[in-house]
Amino acid sequence: KRHLVSAADLSRDDALLILDTAEELAQLSGRAVKKLPTLRGRTVVNLFFEDSTRTKTSFEVAEKRLSADVINFSAKGSSVSKGESLKDTALTLQAMGADAVVIRHHASGAPARLAQSDWLHGSVINAGDGTHEHPTQALLDAFTMRRHLNPGAGQDLAGRRVTIVGDVLHSRVARSNVHLLNTLGAQVTFVAPPTLLPIGIENWPCEVSYDLDSVLPKTDSLMMLRVQRERMNAAFFPTEREYSRRYGMNGRRMAQLPDHAIVMHPGPMVRGMEITAEVADSPRCTAIEQVANGVSVRMAVLYLLLGGAVFADAPTDTPRT
Ligand code: CP
Repeated sequence: KRHLVSAADLSRDDALLILDTAEELAQLSGRAVKKLPTLRGRTVVNLFFEDSTRTKTSFEVAEKRLSADVINFSAKGSSVSKGESLKDTALTLQAMGADAVVIRHHASGAPARLAQSDWLHGSVINAGDGTHEHPTQALLDAFTMRRHLNPGAGQDLAGRRVTIVGDVLHSRVARSNVHLLNTLGAQVTFVAPPTLLPIGIENWPCEVSYDLDSVLPKTDSLMMLRVQRERMNAAFFPTEREYSRRYGMNGRRMAQLPDHAIVMHPGPMVRGMEITAEVADSPRCTAIEQVANGVSVRMAVLYLLLGGAVFADAPTDTPRT
């Protein structure tokens, strides 16, 4: 039984295997091999208790490209709204023969609970749980950084400087990234208002700064985070104008980055808050490229977890979509 619950569970070799596999799959897609028979006959359930645009859609595309049977389950419109528990939902999916469950849940720890239970026999993949982790986001971020900063199969991000800016307190993306980036040898600096940093941040493997302008010239990859107002008490939040002035990414700040540096955002972006339209729409912003890379990375995770046939051996007359 193999799962992907936390980026912290990935060794350097695990992470590089996923990234290298994703690169090979991306190259196959680039050669118009859109569909592989690898997961034919396997059932993957996308179990989403929280809203999603990118993650849900890209997992579905990845599963279909691998020829899996896909079941989309949204808590809205299901018997969860009548009070059904996670356990009973999982037992129901098990009864239908799920080989893997991709779960997004508002409660931190829900994917780990499923993975540790005997409610499901298949793989559990965390698609974002509360403020805890979002491991496939960190993997697609690392994939994007590697393509821009350190190309080459088998190579990590040693010595690369990644600055992560904004609402770290509520960000599962930041947590998964700090684990994975450290595993891959990168140096992480968080820039955030003190009220949006978690207690105990001094024990995380990162530096902390409150001065974005001073960090920009030493940055290879700048990752802007969404301010998650839905998860916070209004008292913790500075005014929008004050936030944008101190921590927002704009054209003036983009000019302070080294020429090779990229601006990343996991999405959804709040234009005018953490990023201006000028930056979001600039060629240096990789937000849309990250979405495309997410399909290849999620294909790699599914392929490796579900142990499909070696994709290099896929028949050359592979059906195309
Ligand atoms: N990055 C991300 O998780 O986006 P969604 O919430 O749209 O899935």
